Amino acid sequence: MISKRIFAFIAAAWLSIGISAARPDEGMWLPMLLKQLNESEMQKKGMKLSAEDIYSVNQSSLKDAIVSFGGFCTGEMISPEGLLLTNHHCGYGQIQQHSSVENDYLTKGFWAMDKSQELPNPGLTATFIVRMEDVTKQILAGTDAAKTEAEREAIIQKNMATVGKAATAGTHYGAVIRPFFYGNEYYMYVTETFKDIRLVGAPPSSIGKFGGDTDNWMWPRHTGDFSLFRIYAGPNNEPAEYSPNNKPYKPKHHLPISLSGIKQNDFTMVFGFPGRTNEYLTSDAIEEIYNVSNPAKIKIRTTRLNVLDKDMKASDAVRIQYAAKHASIANAWKKWQGENRGLRKANTIEKKKELERQFANWINADAARKQQYGNLMAEFEKNYKALDGITISRDYIMEAANGVELIRYASGFAKLQQLIESKAPQAEINAEADKLERAAAGYFKDYNAPTDQKVFVALMGLYYNDLDKKLLPAAVRTAGEKNKGDFSKLASDIYSKTSLTSEAGVKKLLADVKAGKTNVLAKDPAFELANNINEHYRTQVLPTYTAVNDNLNLLYRTYMTGLRAMQQDKKFYPDANSTLRVAYGKVEPYEPLDGVTYNYYTTLEGIMEKAAMPGVEDYVIPEKLRELYEKKDYGPYGMNGEMPVAFISSNHTTGGNSGSPVINANGQLIGTNFDRNWEGTMSDIAYNPDQVRNISVDARYMLFIVDKFAGAGHLVKEMTLVTDDTSGLPQVDSRKKAEPAKELSEKEKRKAEKAAKKAKKKAKEAAEVN
Ligand code: ARG
Ligand code: ASP
Repeated sequence: MISKRIFAFIAAAWLSIGISAARPDEGMWLPMLLKQLNESEMQKKGMKLSAEDIYSVNQSSLKDAIVSFGGFCTGEMISPEGLLLTNHHCGYGQIQQHSSVENDYLTKGFWAMDKSQELPNPGLTATFIVRMEDVTKQILAGTDAAKTEAEREAIIQKNMATVGKAATAGTHYGAVIRPFFYGNEYYMYVTETFKDIRLVGAPPSSIGKFGGDTDNWMWPRHTGDFSLFRIYAGPNNEPAEYSPNNKPYKPKHHLPISLSGIKQNDFTMVFGFPGRTNEYLTSDAIEEIYNVSNPAKIKIRTTRLNVLDKDMKASDAVRIQYAAKHASIANAWKKWQGENRGLRKANTIEKKKELERQFANWINADAARKQQYGNLMAEFEKNYKALDGITISRDYIMEAANGVELIRYASGFAKLQQLIESKAPQAEINAEADKLERAAAGYFKDYNAPTDQKVFVALMGLYYNDLDKKLLPAAVRTAGEKNKGDFSKLASDIYSKTSLTSEAGVKKLLADVKAGKTNVLAKDPAFELANNINEHYRTQVLPTYTAVNDNLNLLYRTYMTGLRAMQQDKKFYPDANSTLRVAYGKVEPYEPLDGVTYNYYTTLEGIMEKAAMPGVEDYVIPEKLRELYEKKDYGPYGMNGEMPVAFISSNHTTGGNSGSPVINANGQLIGTNFDRNWEGTMSDIAYNPDQVRNISVDARYMLFIVDKFAGAGHLVKEMTLVTDDTSGLPQVDSRKKAEPAKELSEKEKRKAEKAAKKAKKKAKEAAEVN
C-alpha cells in the first residue's frame, strides 16, 4: 500500500504537471488571441493555417463564415449565396412553425427546390462578428474609486454604453461587451446582425433526430442533425428586415467542404458560440452541485418524466402534445447524470481541493500575497455556507413547483394582478389581458390537465417531503401538514376549481377582468398557490441568493487573479459566455469503460442495425434511406463502400456550440457539431481529456442526404466541394486568393500575387509536415 504522504506527493506532482503543461485539447479560446496563445500549438497538432487565416481584421478570414444562429446556436456559411448550415435541433422551432397536418415538415422533411420556395422566419437572426477588441481599460476606468460592488457595476455599465456607442456610431453594427474571468477583463465584439433568414432544407426527423432521446448525449450516434437556411440581405449586401426584394447575402467567406473525410488523430477545430461553462469553481461549489443540486434536480425530473411516460404511452394525443416537452426535460436530466458520473470518475472534487491546498501554500509563502489573498478561501467558505438551504430551495422552486405546468402558467398572470391591484388604467389592464389571451391557444394546444394534475401530486409531494419544513412556502407547508404529505386532495380541489386549466376557462376569466371584476384572479386557487410560492421565493430566497452571488463574483475575480499569478506558465481561457470562441483538438476514439473502446466514427450500417431493433420508435427510418443503403448508392460521398454518418473529436464544446463547423487542418468543413458524449458532459465544470468528446455529423452524410436522399442537388452545386488533392475541383477559398481568376484589376492582381506567395510558402511548409 502506498503511504498517505507518498500518495499526496504523487498527486501533487501529477497535478502540477497537469496544470503547467497546458492540457491538450482543453479550452475555448478568444479568436483575437490565437496568435499569441495557440497558433504554434495548433500548428504542432497539424493545422496548416495561421492565426490570421482564422481571425483577421485586415482580410477575410474563417470567422467571416461563422454566425450566432438566433443567439442560441451556431451556424456557418457554406456557399457564396449565403447558404447557412446548422443543426436540425437548432432549426427545430422554425421547421415546426412551418408545419401543419397537411405539410408536416418535421415528419417528412422540407426542401426548397428553388429560392422562391424558401420560407421566411420572423424573429430569427444570424449575427456575424465584424471584429473584437480588448476594452478592459476603458470599461474599468474609474472603478478604483467604487466602494461597493454595486457602485463598481454602475460605473461599468456606464462605460460599456459609452464604449459600445463610440464603436458603432454611424454604422449599422451592434456592440456586445462582456466580462471575462469574472470581470478581470472585458472584450467587445462588434456585430452585424441579419434579420431575413429563410428555411431552405431539413431532413425528416427520422434522420435529423434519429435516435431521439434514446441516443441523446450518447456515442455511438447516427443522427443527421442538420438543417439549411439562407441569409438574405437588402441593397448593398447589408442587413434588412424581410422583403421579397431582398437578395441572397454574399458572405466574405464560405467554408469549402472536404470530401476526403477524416482519419484518427486528424486536427480538428470548432469555431462557434459556446454558451456557459464554470471551469474555475472551487471544491465547495462543485460539492454543492455534485451532492445537492444535481441529485435533487435529477430526482425531481425522474419523477416528472415517469408521470409523462405513463400518460404518453396510454394516449397518442398526449404523446404528441408532450413530445417536445419530454425531450427538453430529458435533455438536461440526462446531462446532469453524465456530469456527476464524469466528475466522480475524474475525481474532480479532490483535484480542486489539491489545487486549493497549493494555492494556500503559495499565499502563505509571501507577505504581500497574504495581504491580498489571505482571507479569500475563508470568505469563499463563509459565502457558500450562507447558501445552505438557499440553493436547494431555489432548485425545488425551479424544478418541482415550476415543474407543474399549472403553477408556472399561473405565475404568468402576476403582472395582470399587479395592474389590477395598483388600479392601473383599464386600457392597460385590457392590453395585458389581450396578450394573455393571444398566448392561450398555443399553450393549451400542448396541455393535458389530467397529466399535469398527476405531475402536481408527485412533485408537490417531493417538495414537501424532501425539504426542511422551514424552507417551505406557507401554502405548501400547510397543505402538506393537513394530509401528511399527500397532495392528491389539494390537487383535485385546485384542478376542479381553477380557471387556468382550459382555454375556455382562461377566456372567461379574462373577459371578467376586462369587464372590471377585480377579484376573480386573486381568488383563483391555482393563482393563489403560485402567488404564495413566488412571494416566498422573492422574500425568503432571492435576496440572499443575489447578495451571496454578488459576493462570490468578487471573490472569484480575486481568485482568478491569484491563480493566474501562481500558474504563470499556464495558459488560461475564460469561461464560455456566448461569445465567439475557437476550440481545437483531434479526431480520436475513447474508452468509456474498462475493456471497451468506442471507435471514432459511425456509418449507415449502424443505422440499419439500430433500425432492426424491434420496438424502438426513435430508430424508425425512411424507406428511401434503406433503398439507398441497399443499392450502396452513395455517390461521391461514400468511402470504401461505407457511408460515414457521425464522428467524435476532442474539442472543448458546450451548449450553444450546436451547429458549429468542425474544420480540418486546411480550413475545410468536415462536420457540424451537435452534441457531446455522456461521459464528457462534465466538461462544463472540468475537462477530462480522456473522456470528453464532441459529436458531429459528417459533412459527407449531410451532402448525401441533400443530394441523394432529398434530390436537392441544386444546393450541393452552390457549395464548394474539395478533396485533399484539389485537382479538377473548386479551390479552397483561402487559396483562391492565390490563383486569381482571369479578369482582375491591377490592384487586385498585386494583392493576389502577394497572397499567392504567402500560400506557396504555406503549401511548402505543409508538404514538409506531411
Ligand atoms: N443534447 C443536445 C444538446 O444539448 C440536444 C439534442 C437534441 N435532440 C434530442 N433528441 N433531444 O443540447
Ligand atoms: N447539444 C448542445 C447544443 O445544443 C451541445 C452540447 O451541449 O454539447 O448546443
